[in-house]
Amino acid sequence: MDKSDKCEKELPIAFFDSGVGGLTVYKEVKKLLPDEDYLYFGDTINMPYGEKTKEELIEIARKIFDYFACRKVKAVVMACNTTSAMTYDVLKNDYDFKIYPIIQSVAKVISNLPVERLGVFATPATINSHAYSREINKLNPEMQIFEISCPAWVRIVEEHRLHQPQSLLQIKERLNEMSLHRPQRIVLGCTHYPYLTGIIKNFYPEKDLIDPSKYFAEFIKNDLEMNGLLNKCGQGSEKFYVSSNPENFMEASKLFCPLTELPEPVKL
Ligand code: DGL
Repeated sequence: MDKSDKCEKELPIAFFDSGVGGLTVYKEVKKLLPDEDYLYFGDTINMPYGEKTKEELIEIARKIFDYFACRKVKAVVMACNTTSAMTYDVLKNDYDFKIYPIIQSVAKVISNLPVERLGVFATPATINSHAYSREINKLNPEMQIFEISCPAWVRIVEEHRLHQPQSLLQIKERLNEMSLHRPQRIVLGCTHYPYLTGIIKNFYPEKDLIDPSKYFAEFIKNDLEMNGLLNKCGQGSEKFYVSSNPENFMEASKLFCPLTELPEPVKL
């Protein structure tokens, strides 16, 4: 890669997730940095990440990072809590672009919130890793953190089953479980979960929910700026890729960040 300052900052910023979840992050970053050029990879063939082992996730994340290395990017945004929790520490030094993991990037701001009892909803893999409580308690050991895993929620979003009675039941079960802990605020610790805000806020007012993507977008902007990597005269272009089923991705994207053209299928 040509590492001269000028060239590097003109390279695109890449995002990945198992599907449409990462669009919740992408949308916030694009709002803050409209002139950058973007690539987004939805690894739909491997969805849901939250039910995979650490070894499987490392293999998957490595392939995605290798793909982005070939595409020449200046940064990769891990718009996915599960891979941030399970693979970032292993892969973080293996590439010469910036890597932004969501959990580690937002832990500081969450740890400073005036909250004593914090809930976290996330995928089984993220919850089993205790990445949220580890990262937040490192900075604020006083905060009590209640982590609850929501295995069905990602598929509910990806399969557009938001309003089916069975889905509502699966969501309510977890919300009831969380309410026993009386959290003051709750982190939506999977990038798919903001798609469910409308349903969740029937139980918890929106002000009690924390969607980390806004904090994450701020973090990314500041860090790129600090490193002289902001591109203020890019084209604002975007290109989407998926590992399977582009039509489904396009349909699911309508809920949050509608795509204007079908994503391109790629095989890693
Ligand atoms: N959206 C991702 C996350 O934030 C992954 C969800 C999944 O595929 O299980 O964890």
